Amino acid sequence: MRLADKVILVTGAGGGMGRVAAETFAHEGAKIIANDYAEGPLEETVALVRNAGGEIVGVPGNVAIGANVQRAVAEGVRAFGRLDVLYNNAGIMPSEDTSVEETSEETLARVLDINLKGVFLCCKYGIPELLKTGGGSIINIASFVAVLGCTVPQDAYTASKGGVLSLTRSLAVQYGPRGIRANAICPGPVETPLLRKLWTSEDERNKRLRRIPMGRFGTAEDIVNAGVFLASDDSSWITGNTFMVDGGITVNYF
Ligand SMILES: NC(=O)c1ccc[n+]([C@@H]2O[C@H](COP(=O)([O-])OP(=O)(O)OC[C@H]3O[C@@H](n4cnc5c(N)ncnc54)[C@H](O)[C@@H]3O)[C@@H](O)[C@H]2O)c1
Repeated sequence: MRLADKVILVTGAGGGMGRVAAETFAHEGAKIIANDYAEGPLEETVALVRNAGGEIVGVPGNVAIGANVQRAVAEGVRAFGRLDVLYNNAGIMPSEDTSVEETSEETLARVLDINLKGVFLCCKYGIPELLKTGGGSIINIASFVAVLGCTVPQDAYTASKGGVLSLTRSLAVQYGPRGIRANAICPGPVETPLLRKLWTSEDERNKRLRRIPMGRFGTAEDIVNAGVFLASDDSSWITGNTFMVDGGITVNYF
């Protein structure tokens, strides 16, 4: 087991890639602190992991609210005694986010609050516990759109994910000397509820599919497998990276 006895905080664990992350990390021997603001789905994740023999506590809360994040960290550490890995995965991609001219200030604020401030807060309150453990791994989920322009813009989302990449590099430099690694994963298009909500037709779907050299959309497992590697000691000299897991979409000129 590649993550034996590591304690991992997974945000957005109630659905999509976060749920698969919680299940996979537990299968690899980790103890999971699972967070989501959707309480029902979070409980389902907790049940799935427990039924498979894994160790998990669920702490509902919004990653954009500092007190909620503090509670998740505190309850997790109370349950398992330590914290080794932050898997900062919670994020939103609202369909009303388009170009700077069209996207409202309210949408911008909501997206930045969850996608960027949420990662910031998880690091703010998680890092002190990683330091007590003597080091650890921070894995921030960004997106391929953070490194590409797109003619179908989602400007608030893109800006939020670009911020995640910059923050990740800053953390890597600051905390490397104290044993903490920080890396970002940039998933390409993965068929989760988040993405399906945006496709209004089969044509919309196929337009994106044609851009992916590997000829298929990603799966949650494709992304989470990279997460297992970055959480494990196999990646112990890898920090500050922007890890593209995207079927080649970002190297496709045309
Ligand atoms: N699906 C893709 O194609 C894709 C591509 C690139 C990046 N990403 C990123 O991957 C991450 C996971 O995406 P997904 O596709 O699994 O999404 P999803 O919508 O399927 O799941 C996201 C989960 O996060 C939770 N969540 C949202 N806001 C929250 C908050 N404020 N506090 C706590 N929990 C919250 C939701 O309830 C949900 O369970 C996101 O950061 C997303 O931006 C996704």
